Amino acid sequence: MKNKRSFLSKLIAAAIISCCFSSMPSSARNSIHGDVNGDNIIGYGDLRLIQGYVLGKNELTADQLTYADVDGDGRVDAFDITMLKENFNEHMNKMPQGTWIASGSKGKRYYNFEKGTVTEESSGAVTSYKCTVSETNLNFDKNVCGDANHALFSWIGSDKLLLRWDKGYVEELHYYGNAAINYSSLLSGKYVTSGGYGKRTFNFKGISGSFTGQNGSGLGFEYTFSGNNYTFYMGTDRKQKKAVYKKIDSMHFSLTWDDGTVERFTKQDIQVKNGITYVNGILIANKTYALPSTYNPGAITSEAQSAFNSMKADAAKAGYTLTICSGFRSYSYQSQLYNSYVNRDGKAKADTYSARPGHSEHQTGLAMDINNASDSFNNTPEAKWIAANCWKYGFILRYPQGKQNITGYKYESWHVRYLGKDLAKEVYNSGLTLEEFLCIDSVYKN
Ligand code: DAL
Ligand code: ZN
Repeated sequence: MKNKRSFLSKLIAAAIISCCFSSMPSSARNSIHGDVNGDNIIGYGDLRLIQGYVLGKNELTADQLTYADVDGDGRVDAFDITMLKENFNEHMNKMPQGTWIASGSKGKRYYNFEKGTVTEESSGAVTSYKCTVSETNLNFDKNVCGDANHALFSWIGSDKLLLRWDKGYVEELHYYGNAAINYSSLLSGKYVTSGGYGKRTFNFKGISGSFTGQNGSGLGFEYTFSGNNYTFYMGTDRKQKKAVYKKIDSMHFSLTWDDGTVERFTKQDIQVKNGITYVNGILIANKTYALPSTYNPGAITSEAQSAFNSMKADAAKAGYTLTICSGFRSYSYQSQLYNSYVNRDGKAKADTYSARPGHSEHQTGLAMDINNASDSFNNTPEAKWIAANCWKYGFILRYPQGKQNITGYKYESWHVRYLGKDLAKEVYNSGLTLEEFLCIDSVYKN
């Protein structure tokens, strides 16, 4: 007589492990031994079919015979009935504990049977319920799956479950862990990476995600975490990869993978609204990202202006006078400026210090030149004070020294960009240009 363990491992091996991307259509048949009638649940219906066959009361198709061979010895006989009953005895009335990840054609959901919650991965919407188990029935006190409040369930091993909801929707659940998912620690959104694995792009959603490597090949994953220790389950074979998470700032973190490779993650959610590009919500105007000619806030924004006023007041206390010598510039004014520089110095040189129309940060109403927009301002006490203090008021020095190949412009000690205090502080602490901070470039396409 084969033992239960071999039965369970057989069930696990036989189950279709639906991968992170694909989900099981509700009509598809799972390859689960014991599920003779193909309803995706191992239940009394299956037991009756096997019993009937063994007793000569009913026939089974060749396909059904495969599923009826529960112990896998090539025959359908009384041992298969015994094994199926053993499975029933062990699992019937057994309420799942802890957190489970459900996959189905309608998307992923997280169940926590202790708390009585189910969370939609796509929206984070949580439904609370009371659930009781009776034999192979899960009875909920309200609809928790569309308009169904009842599911038949089967245990497929100790860490896998199948739920078949009334009206036929099937969810495959795998055990996630004892702890409830800590939503505040979930990674979310798009990231680009740098480090030992080269440049990869990641997309996190809930406890799932996918990444694309440099060669363009993609892989889905799920992850669990306890504190900063993350475990990723990669691809359809759920290969485990461990990594230690470290938060850097609101837009960066690193993972140190178990082979020692450090990968730096930069959040990069690029959205274009009305022709204006926002990266992680930050309005960008540089050589790569242009503003529409019609974009015209008309002046420095009130927020940027009041930030400047505070900065000016504090600079005055320290004995320095700050004034805006060039603030908002319209598309057409920038056009005149740029053309006059091209006439004077030629296009190639003008491009090193003046933005083409549509590409100037001055058109955003968030940038300003302070005191004197010329190299003679460099190294003045005011320039030094601005470099050391502007972040406290929400500004960054936008074109630092030695970063011309990244920002696209030579050093401008007088040009600051308003980002708001939190972000300006993060960029200042990073020591990076805005382009580096966001992993974007600043290059004209032609
Ligand atoms: N001087 C800066 C780059 C501008 O023209 O916007
Ligand atoms: Zn400027």
